Amino acid sequence: MRIAMIGAGYVGLVSGACLSDFGHEVVCIDKDKSKVRALLDGKIPIYEPGLDDLIARNVREQRLTFRTGLAETVAAADAVFIGVGTPSRRGDGHADLSYVHQAAREIGAAISGYTVVVTKSTVPVGTGDEVERIIREINPKADFAVVSNPEFLREGAAINDFKRPDRIVVGTDDERAKKMMQEIYRPLYLNRSPLVFMSRRTAELTKYAANAFLATKIAFINEIADLCEQVEANVQDVSRGIGLDNRIGSKFLHAGPGYGGSCFPKDTLALMKTAQDYGAPLRIIETVVASNDQRKRAMARKIIAACGGSVRGKTIAILGLTFKPNTDDMREAPSIAIITALQDAGARVRAYDPEGIEQAQLVMGNVEYADDPYSCAEGAAALVIVTEWDAFRALDMRRLKNIIPSGIVVDLRNIYHPDEMAEYGFTYRSIGRAEVT
Ligand code: UDX
Repeated sequence: MRIAMIGAGYVGLVSGACLSDFGHEVVCIDKDKSKVRALLDGKIPIYEPGLDDLIARNVREQRLTFRTGLAETVAAADAVFIGVGTPSRRGDGHADLSYVHQAAREIGAAISGYTVVVTKSTVPVGTGDEVERIIREINPKADFAVVSNPEFLREGAAINDFKRPDRIVVGTDDERAKKMMQEIYRPLYLNRSPLVFMSRRTAELTKYAANAFLATKIAFINEIADLCEQVEANVQDVSRGIGLDNRIGSKFLHAGPGYGGSCFPKDTLALMKTAQDYGAPLRIIETVVASNDQRKRAMARKIIAACGGSVRGKTIAILGLTFKPNTDDMREAPSIAIITALQDAGARVRAYDPEGIEQAQLVMGNVEYADDPYSCAEGAAALVIVTEWDAFRALDMRRLKNIIPSGIVVDLRNIYHPDEMAEYGFTYRSIGRAEVT
């Protein structure tokens, strides 16, 4: 199969590389010339474990390449995937579809022979209809079908998620397109990953519903954690106690500083706006969004309380900046709101992250960045764990105890045990568990 992947961002690059690894001939197209040049030189613009090797292998074996212009590739392609960004539109929170529509116009001008046009970007219900209309308007004779095929991969585990998905959602009523999609995902299909066919609009909504449900689980357990702190219960035991019920499931019940990243905040907001527009408001999601927004600043208040009520003039050490481990992605990272609130309260912030410092410097210029966890902690009034990188799970606590005079540790990811921290003599605060003083 010849596949054109429009957009060499996160979804486009990972999907393009994985599809080429299935044996398809893939061309990833991006308008950004310097990005394409870098990719052709073997430089991968994002941090994703295993992606560099996967790309290098498929480029070497000539199944994967990168280009700026799409006309020639689209004309020759059996399937054209749209993997461009759909950021939140400034002002109203709706998804900004200008890149998707632009891609549709360019596809319309270039398409030739029966072609399946697949939207992989997360797009609001009805976008497939609009993509179809645009292509048809530009090229009334074109022979094509527009399919919705949302992507569910997680950053940091993207390749595994693409190659071993729980399911592949395909939204189309076109029989030829169904066969093509089966062919594209043949290795997964043979491996018993279910291909779930549905209408295009249903597939578009399924993606938002999945992310909104997961965000709801997180917001739910975070509020339960707050209650645990008030009633002296333990949120991790609650998570286990409810998660073992198959109807609930144990995943995404890890309490923390609130969800971040490029998907949950943007997609919950976009879904909420769509629902309001259609007169079917999703009140649960509206509450989830508000609860998660408030949580980030509440985490700063928790840190300030742990420091005795004021951080004015004090240095707070932050471990972990990215929105989760194994990525350099800072989009909507809870660390940003937490650090801003601490600075508003008069604190100086020193931070360390294994991969995220370069990105963090772009959004937070007024933070001092350290080279390792210990130089970050040296002399700080409190040490705060914001992202649960593996490198923070086995810190030398004796050493830390010596370099943090106050002995205050605030663990927003519950990666240490209160008893163990008590033994080292720390003042330890975590999420939804007993306080150690
Ligand atoms: C998510 C979805 O999981 C994926 O299916 C979708 O395609 C894109 O959005 P991603 O944003 O990469 O993927 O990250 P994910 O691992 O889902 O975590 C999102 C956020 O939720 C992170 O900030 C994480 O720290 C937080 N989280 C996750 C929790 O606080 N608790 C949990 O139990 C799980």
